[in-house]
Amino acid sequence: MILVTGGAGYIGSHAVLELLLAGHDVLVLDNLCNSSRQAIERVEYLAGRPVNFVKGDVRNRPLLNALFAAYPIGAVMHFAGLKAVGESVREPLRYYETNVSGSIALCQAMAEAGVFRLVFSSSATVYGETSVMPISEQCPTGVPTNPYGQSKLMAENVLRGLANSDPRWSIGLLRYFNPIGAHESGLIGEDPNGIPNNLLPYMLQVAIGRRKELNIFGNDYATPDGTGVRDYIHVVDLVKGHLRALERLEDTTGVHVWNLGTGQGHSVLEMVRALEEVSGRTIRYSIKPRRPGDIAQCWSDPRKAWSELGWRAERDLRTMLADAWRWQLQNPRGYTVEKKVPAALAS
Ligand code: NAD
Ligand code: UD1
Repeated sequence: MILVTGGAGYIGSHAVLELLLAGHDVLVLDNLCNSSRQAIERVEYLAGRPVNFVKGDVRNRPLLNALFAAYPIGAVMHFAGLKAVGESVREPLRYYETNVSGSIALCQAMAEAGVFRLVFSSSATVYGETSVMPISEQCPTGVPTNPYGQSKLMAENVLRGLANSDPRWSIGLLRYFNPIGAHESGLIGEDPNGIPNNLLPYMLQVAIGRRKELNIFGNDYATPDGTGVRDYIHVVDLVKGHLRALERLEDTTGVHVWNLGTGQGHSVLEMVRALEEVSGRTIRYSIKPRRPGDIAQCWSDPRKAWSELGWRAERDLRTMLADAWRWQLQNPRGYTVEKKVPAALAS
């Protein structure tokens, strides 16, 4: 059985589905601070199999001990965490406590239970502001400009120290580039709280008429059209990478770092045009000053994951946007409180 912390969230829910489809039993631990129980119900529907779900906090050691005692957990995928950059600047302690202390509590409980295989959600943000593209795993980590990024780097360092201290640990640090998209069914996807911080959810809300226009943060970067360039990756490809990592970690030890990206960069303006094409809607935008802390461009060298995991991203930008758009159309308010079960689920 695989314990998936944060399994009700955007990436976690897609990972749980992929694990179930691959035949794994899954236990989800999530405090639902940024997600809905509905995501799990929909995953169960899509997989045709139940998920063991526990509502609780990853920092709760007694709860973790009880879970390891009660379930035959063989490995952990650790998604639980807070991820809003601006919020992390305002509330740094909450971010360090959840993202760093939460990871420590989890590892303590794992060690006590004799479980040493862990897949950790890291981020390309740990590379900081590097100008050499593409970014390979050999690129030294930088200085993330905000507590969120710092917390990811700190958690990585904690996990490295742990693996150095005890050869039984087998840990994958997966550095995500920019996950977007949704499951092709349109039943699970990203459901941000309040005003979205990230480009795709914001653009989708403009396309569907919930917001008037997109603010493009800067068109004076040293990029082909002046807007920021990122490596967007389909969330389903991303979670498939997690399954490969989980398998690989079964026959190796120590810490392994893998970039999860496509290796291709796209600018904000390219994203706008591509979503207009996919959705048939006009996306109004205006150019605003640069967002503090943003870098001009960032894309991955994904070859290490290909050579060591036999994994690479397969879905192109059009598919990412078409799947995201389907999710948005079918769930214009995400997993809202009224939470009507879609017709497909009711039958
Ligand atoms: P998300 O907010 O949708 O999912 C995180 C989940 O963790 C949520 O369901 C939330 O309720 C849960 N959670 C938060 N604090 C918890 C706690 N103390 N105890 C138990 N559960 C808790 O975010 P996501 O986009 O699915 O991200 C998953 C992981 O990937 C996070 O660690 C995030 O930092 C990392 N990551 C995300 C991105 C991205 O662009 N989405 C990029 C790089 C890294
Ligand atoms: C951001 C975070 C990063 C985090 C990632 C996933 C910052 C500085 N970085 O990455 O740490 O891991 O989200 O949560 O916040 N853009 C607009 N208008 C918008 C939103 C974004 O023009 O309304 C632009 C940005 O300037 C950037 C691109 O779109 O060029 C992508 O932005 P975003 O989706 O927020 O991702 P990152 O900044 O790459």
